[in-house]
Amino acid sequence: MIQRPRGTLDILPENAVKRLFVENKIRDIFDNFNYQEIRTPSFEKTALFKRSIGEETDIVSKEMYSFNNDEYTLKPEMTAPVIRAYLENNLYAQSPVTKLYYISNMYRHENPQAGRYREFGQFGAEAIGSFDYTVDAEMISLSIRILNEFGINDIITKINTIGSIDERKSYIISLKEYLAKYYDDLSVDSKRRLETNPLRILDSKLDIEIEILKDAPILYDFLTPETKEHFTKVLDTLKDIGIKYEVDYKLVRGFDYYTSTTFEVVSNDLGAQNAVLGGGRYDALIEQLGGNPTPAIGFASGIERLIMILDKMNFNYPAADNLKIYFVTIGEEAKRFAVKTLYDLRKQNIKCDTDYLNRSVKAQMREANKFQSEYTMVVGENELKSGISKLKKMSDGNTTDIGIQNINNLISAIL
Ligand code: HAM
Repeated sequence: MIQRPRGTLDILPENAVKRLFVENKIRDIFDNFNYQEIRTPSFEKTALFKRSIGEETDIVSKEMYSFNNDEYTLKPEMTAPVIRAYLENNLYAQSPVTKLYYISNMYRHENPQAGRYREFGQFGAEAIGSFDYTVDAEMISLSIRILNEFGINDIITKINTIGSIDERKSYIISLKEYLAKYYDDLSVDSKRRLETNPLRILDSKLDIEIEILKDAPILYDFLTPETKEHFTKVLDTLKDIGIKYEVDYKLVRGFDYYTSTTFEVVSNDLGAQNAVLGGGRYDALIEQLGGNPTPAIGFASGIERLIMILDKMNFNYPAADNLKIYFVTIGEEAKRFAVKTLYDLRKQNIKCDTDYLNRSVKAQMREANKFQSEYTMVVGENELKSGISKLKKMSDGNTTDIGIQNINNLISAIL
């Protein structure tokens, strides 16, 4: 038996219904905030991710699904593809601020565990074209509003500012000096990153490095008054809106493109992978990808992780529509009658079904019950001859005689 690849999911009907509900609700909220949907290809040129996410990040250095001699890569995230599409399609010409959202699958070759998959769903948004602090506050509040809309309130919102690339230069020197003292204790990766991209060492998941980093210099202390003022305004606006947050000066996030505001929302209802969503500003990325200097901010959240929290909460999903009517047929002619009638009813948007296995009346009734069909109708030789059949309401067992030659009789009886 061939099985599905490790770290992937089969979303079976019961879960597909949940997911559709979740996605539709998310769409409504994005629409409510005046964000428009964008869809991009499943794969992009590998260079796009290398240039934006950064060569020394875990994603680019270890987790990309690349193919065709590394020319292409399945998208591990959406920010870079959205910006690529924004530039390629001149979206900036249509409006000075572009607000986009997406719901799509991502691919990362990670070690699978609960809440961490190799193919996973993300929803997220990007607001491109403004450096105003109000956009930061809107983006953060939008991401939290989505969680709240599902009744998820037991969360911690961590927020930080990491300044511009220039501002980080003196910090990097100081961080390098600090880490050099512990050189022998650093992993091979971190020894290399000390030369290529020391900031990425801050993302370390190794206990010994986490311990070393506890006393490392703090990036915030190296930032300019302007950056700090922007951050204060973001925090004040979040307070106005009523969003609770914790400032976390260690929150740098694992992408090179971030500048200024970064944020992450964690939930205690998730295990080790406790991040529900994350995001931040990336004011230099658009220029790096060949556009005019354009500030932007965004976030993304994992759909499976959101659903994990909902499952923990025993979230009450709305029930799916049941069948309106199930035709129990006896004999060839009745089957033919049912197929034609089903087709006509379905054209009227009536959900209905029948048996396809020539089973006994008893077995067919059992099937109708399983589907919680509102009505059943038995059609056999007698009914076809007389043109009259009994329509049975399953909730009380009451039956009504219906002339079956005219479909409208049936429609008016069941609606
Ligand atoms: P990220 O933090 O890598 O950010 O991913 C965002 C969210 O996607 C995570 O918080 C988590 O819920 C989910 N996620 C990530 N990896 C996995 C995985 N292997 N399995 C299941 N869920 C996962 C980004 O992707 C940025 N592009 C966010 C952003 C948008 N920043 C600015 N704009």
